[in-house]
Amino acid sequence: MAALDNQVPSAVKARADAGEIQVTNVSRSYGVARFAKDVVRDCSFTIERHKLTVMIGPSGCGKTTLIRMLAGFEKPNAGSITLDGKPVTGPNKDRLVVFQETALFPWMTTYENIMYGPRARGEDSQHARDQAKFLLDKVGLTGFRDKYPPQLSGGMQRRAELARAMINNPVVMILDEPFRGLDAMSKELMWEYYAGLYEEFRRTNFFVTTDIDEAIFLADRLLIMSNIPTRVRAVIEVDLPRPRRLADIFDSERANEVKIQALSLLHEEAMKSFTGGSKAAADFVEAYSKRMGKAKAGA
Ligand SMILES: Nc1ncnc2c1ncn2[C@@H]1O[C@H](COP(=O)(O)OP(=O)(O)O)[C@@H](O)[C@H]1O
Ligand SMILES: [Mg+2]
Repeated sequence: MAALDNQVPSAVKARADAGEIQVTNVSRSYGVARFAKDVVRDCSFTIERHKLTVMIGPSGCGKTTLIRMLAGFEKPNAGSITLDGKPVTGPNKDRLVVFQETALFPWMTTYENIMYGPRARGEDSQHARDQAKFLLDKVGLTGFRDKYPPQLSGGMQRRAELARAMINNPVVMILDEPFRGLDAMSKELMWEYYAGLYEEFRRTNFFVTTDIDEAIFLADRLLIMSNIPTRVRAVIEVDLPRPRRLADIFDSERANEVKIQALSLLHEEAMKSFTGGSKAAADFVEAYSKRMGKAKAGA
């Protein structure tokens, strides 16, 4: 396995025995008494060790709420979350989250941003500098090491963020719609980049999205979420070969099958919120109809 290759510096290797998250009967609500709103209800799933698990669900169903609990920023009202059998009690560099909003410091260069974690821990060692160099190369930003974030394209900024998270060697990488807002072409390039990084290091990854093509292209396992209050509606094993290449995946019959199956479930969930009058759901239903047309035409 590439992750155990001697070429890879220790800080970016996946640990062979670590990285499984278990979510058991988790519930979370906001507000009190009759103003209480259930966002997550009796939700259980496993983020399997060294796999790339993708969660997809309608906008507003409670995905980010789940991520905040996985990261330890918030506690469930009921149920438990464990990492390798130990309860998650607060934030820790073992579980790093890359959010949709860019978190790069605009007054730091690409290199300084990547070195931020080690420096904040007082580890500006030769070892950390070597890792930063290695990761700059991995994300294709060696030529941009001394540029500031506003001088980088959207896709480069996201790649710098991936490197900035990876240098901390988290046991689990958690990503909340990290490519949202990129234009279609940059997004597809990011899928290949990110899949390549995953395939090389094989650490446990948990990736949240509302984009069905992104979900299928990346996932080993796809968790399809119900409408709010959310729980896992279905799990699909996406048994497509790796390394993944855009042309191979979107020409494959299996990908098309998974897409139709996933979209039917998501459509049912969106319809539930649509009857509640949600704008997000109306947008989803419209996008869904277009996508279904394409998926069937391709079948
Ligand atoms: N801190 C909070 N206080 C009150 N309501 C919240 C809070 N966080 C999230 N919610 C509600 O939970 C629901 C789900 O939000 P979120 O988890 O961000 O959904 P998603 O990430 O799936 O789009 C939303 O209706 C939102 O209004
Ligand atoms: Mg969200």
